[in-house]
Amino acid sequence: MLDHLQGKTAVITGAGSGFGLEFARLAALRGMRLVLLDVQVEPLAQVVTELKQGGAEVLPFELSVADAPAMQAMAQAVQAQWGAPHLVFNNAGVGTSGLLWEGSLADWNWVLGVNLMGVVHGVHCFVPMMLAAARSDPNWRGHVVNTASMAGLLNPPNMGIYNVSKHAVVSLSESLHHDLSLVTEQIGVSVLCPYFVPTGISSSGRLKPQAGLDETITTSQRVGQAMMNKAVQSGRVTAAQVAERTFEAVAQGEFYIYSHPQALASVRTRMEDILEARTPSDPFADKPQVRQMLSEQLRSA
Ligand SMILES: NC(=O)c1ccc[n+]([C@@H]2O[C@H](COP(=O)([O-])OP(=O)(O)OC[C@H]3O[C@@H](n4cnc5c(N)ncnc54)[C@H](O)[C@@H]3O)[C@@H](O)[C@H]2O)c1
Repeated sequence: MLDHLQGKTAVITGAGSGFGLEFARLAALRGMRLVLLDVQVEPLAQVVTELKQGGAEVLPFELSVADAPAMQAMAQAVQAQWGAPHLVFNNAGVGTSGLLWEGSLADWNWVLGVNLMGVVHGVHCFVPMMLAAARSDPNWRGHVVNTASMAGLLNPPNMGIYNVSKHAVVSLSESLHHDLSLVTEQIGVSVLCPYFVPTGISSSGRLKPQAGLDETITTSQRVGQAMMNKAVQSGRVTAAQVAERTFEAVAQGEFYIYSHPQALASVRTRMEDILEARTPSDPFADKPQVRQMLSEQLRSA
């Protein structure tokens, strides 16, 4: 288990906002050296200034996690500077909503490129480096935390592209755990599955490569965006609390990390549907008004 963090290296993607920013603050508080990545220049510059002023050593990279060559070059620079990182947060992600068949192929490429391939790139770049460090020192410990979502365990309607990307991150994380456990006990894995938490996620549409181009927004996308804004902004658990829980979970070696354990009742129902071969239940069965409102708005469009 990775518990003593002082002087060790953390890599955090999506470090400019939300969970990534809070991971960076906590890692700095624990005396870690920080590799911070974000596609947004200004928020990245702000966190770098804040943490350097607090005395942290920071290596910033402005890049997209979807860009494989840029990620590879970043990983080589990290290795040259500080060696293998001990704690890797594959966290950068973007949100989208709308009926599955109405998302453009550009939307699919964007969301899967960031939410899934971003995590793939983080694993591909850093896990071999971490394994080499583990092999050369029996006391070396490392940990990978991938940010998925409750949408990686449930399939809420009108946000299918996001659901697909996050289910893939849960699968990747479980697979990584199983594969690593075949070869080492020195590297742990966790998957963070938050429910709605107030961050910048509901405004990530502006980061689309096609943002600002003449894109038609469908009714389902408009309604979904409004619902996502409301759900995210009315969340009461904070990103800082989720980050605290995540660091505790890493220290305890816990695999699944939840922000809202009460939302697991719907996961249980989904698992029972699978076991009983039942038609999938409504993931928002405890809030029937959500489904009704969505359905009314889509049918009247
Ligand atoms: N907030 C929630 O309710 C919630 C719920 C479940 C899962 N999540 C997940 O949490 C993770 C973090 O999101 P957040 O809620 O903190 O949102 P956020 O928008 O506040 O932070 C995400 C950060 O990722 C960065 N980013 C986006 N695309 C990138 C790219 N291509 N390359 C590098 N950086 C990029 C953004 O610039 C931003 O700084 C995401 O994976 C998201 O899907 C969030």
